[in-house]
Amino acid sequence: MMTRRQALKTTALATAAVAAARGAIAQTPDQPKRSQPLITTATPTGPFMLPPLPYAYDALEPYIDARTMEIHHDKHHAAYVANLNKAVAGIPGLETRSVEELVKDLNAVPENIRAAVRNNGGGHYNHSLFWQMMKKDGGGEPKGELARAIAVKFGNFSNFKDSLTKAALGQFGSGWAWLVLDGREVKIESTPNQDTPLARGRQPLLGIDVWEHAYYLKYQNRRPEYVGAWFNSINWDFVADRFARLTS
Ligand SMILES: [Fe+2]
Repeated sequence: MMTRRQALKTTALATAAVAAARGAIAQTPDQPKRSQPLITTATPTGPFMLPPLPYAYDALEPYIDARTMEIHHDKHHAAYVANLNKAVAGIPGLETRSVEELVKDLNAVPENIRAAVRNNGGGHYNHSLFWQMMKKDGGGEPKGELARAIAVKFGNFSNFKDSLTKAALGQFGSGWAWLVLDGREVKIESTPNQDTPLARGRQPLLGIDVWEHAYYLKYQNRRPEYVGAWFNSINWDFVADRFARLTS
């Protein structure tokens, strides 16, 4: 039988766990509104962790609103991470693989969890990159080798922008539009749902999330307006560094 001391300890631990879990995904009404994203990695158990946003929720205003960023990161991305952890829990060999390895070779994932890993692993991977592909006071045009690669492929930056916009608007339903690296050549592609360019043998350089959760609060059905505004948030330094690393 459980002693009173043991019962108190169990109750205290359970209360702390519930408080910690709630604190990780929500705030109580009497707390001031957080201006900074969660630093915690809100995963129930498992190897995959939610990375913190590299800036405040309102850093991308007025192009992407703070509330959208908060829900997008703290709820949507967190859910992909939690569901990926559930999918791989207890499966030998999978818990030690990186999310990149998992989504790059889905055939190596057991069939009974392949769809879960494709959707949630893809969601985790895509969003982890997406946050870094944007920054406060972003936008403009890339410089250096990436600028040259874009000019070789598209003629000029304006043509590139038109092509990526067309892919973003042409993606029916939920998905992503990408600038990818295919060998040493840059290309525009789109993927449905949370599919990644990695699964097709490409490396994503820049991507725009065109799921409605990425823009609906501010733009409702006006995806073209969101896509146009998003170009002002691009972190070209991150994209150019990634290009340099992947082509070196
Ligand atoms: Fe998203």
